[in-house]
Amino acid sequence: MSCILLTLCSRILQMLCCLFVASLGLIVLKWIFLAHQNTYKFNRLPYLLLASPKPIPCQPSTNIMFLKTHKTGSSTILNILFRFAEKRNLTVALPIGKKFSFSYPSPFLVNYVEDFQITGPNHNIMGNHLRFNFPEVQKIMPRNTFFFSILRNPISLLESSYIYFRFAGAFKRTKTLNEFLASPLSYYNPRKDIANMVARNFMWFDFGYDNDAEDTEGYVHSKIEEIEERFQLILIADYFDESMVLLKNTLCWDLDDVVYFKLNSRSWDSIQTLSLESRERAKGWCSLDWQLYRHFNETFWRKIEATIGLKDLVREVELLRERQEELMAVCIQDEKAVEQSQIKERQLQPVQSGLARILGYNLKPYLDNETRKNCHRMILPEFPHTNLMYKRQFPQKSPKIT
Ligand SMILES: *[C@@H]1O[C@H](CO)[C@@H](O)[C@H](O)[C@H]1NC(C)=O
Ligand SMILES: *[C@@H]1O[C@H](CO)[C@@H](O)[C@H](O)[C@H]1NC(C)=O
Ligand SMILES: *[C@@H]1O[C@H](CO)[C@@H](O)[C@H](O)[C@H]1NC(C)=O
Repeated sequence: MSCILLTLCSRILQMLCCLFVASLGLIVLKWIFLAHQNTYKFNRLPYLLLASPKPIPCQPSTNIMFLKTHKTGSSTILNILFRFAEKRNLTVALPIGKKFSFSYPSPFLVNYVEDFQITGPNHNIMGNHLRFNFPEVQKIMPRNTFFFSILRNPISLLESSYIYFRFAGAFKRTKTLNEFLASPLSYYNPRKDIANMVARNFMWFDFGYDNDAEDTEGYVHSKIEEIEERFQLILIADYFDESMVLLKNTLCWDLDDVVYFKLNSRSWDSIQTLSLESRERAKGWCSLDWQLYRHFNETFWRKIEATIGLKDLVREVELLRERQEELMAVCIQDEKAVEQSQIKERQLQPVQSGLARILGYNLKPYLDNETRKNCHRMILPEFPHTNLMYKRQFPQKSPKIT
């Protein structure tokens, strides 16, 4: 084939062709070499070779496990996954009976999933809160499952956790987070309180590890490596829209699949300000989470550069925000989030916790049925949404909420 092509070329073209083939060969050789050396460069290669004006054809991923970490914007992602599942008639792994999490904070076990004996590993989507336990999760999900999760800057995560879990364990006896961070061990008793994880290395705990473990380089490194092996993608809440664009491109989804309205957010007056000193202390107090975050913040940006590129990222984030505004105008009364007392439909009122005032939305009146349904799903809080998915999948069982 290449011979026929070459004889058609003029002498100069022939040389150019040769050069091209040779450099392509070099790239492939380099790739094979690098693939053994560095997985990040391996990910980059298909993009280099296939770069062409035509879009790369891909199939939307439908088998997805999302590790829902706490206080990281993960309720918004669960909402996205539930909508995707409903739209495509996918099977969701759901907590048994009246539960809304897979018996968190116990490490996940298969029998926390409704009807797991009947469904076997045939679930498509899994995303309710659980404490990660890889061997057990593998029993529930198909082999080609895409694993992803989301991390947030541990300083703002701790602040959010402090307000949300104001009356739990170590936080109970303090008036401010600054006070807590000035002397955490006067309030925090390792291995005593079952709610300890809300006050220290919360993400580390959600990933299934010991949040009080001694911070040694070898230990932290080995766990981060383990996460790298098990999760194909780690998103960063501090760059939420960028994360949604990366998720969409990685899963080969449409823009509308990842358009969202922020759920479970707090009103501004329930956010505490931390002193500079406290911010530094928080890094040390949650040093396992801090290293976890630093590592995956780096891989996140490297992945963006290697796939979308920074220029296209900016454009795609703009498109996402435009679509969000468009849908906000279609769906939402007054086009903004409001406090619970102003939400008319009971089902649309989010659960309140601690000192946080959690916001929600009202639907515009007089929407046509189809639009109303789509808008409703976007603003349905986590518990009624889990209930809706449960009723759809288990119509014969008694619902989680009546
Ligand atoms: C949805 O999936 C279920 C089981 O997987 C199947 O019984 C049902 O017919 C499907 N419904 C539609 C509308 O495709
Ligand atoms: C996360 O990565 C971005 C981009 O490289 C960087 O600007 C930012 O400082 C990083 N954040 C932390 C906490 O390391
Ligand atoms: C819209 O929904 C209402 C109430 O559920 C129903 O009575 C009506 O027939 C529906 N209209 C259309 C066009 O489907």
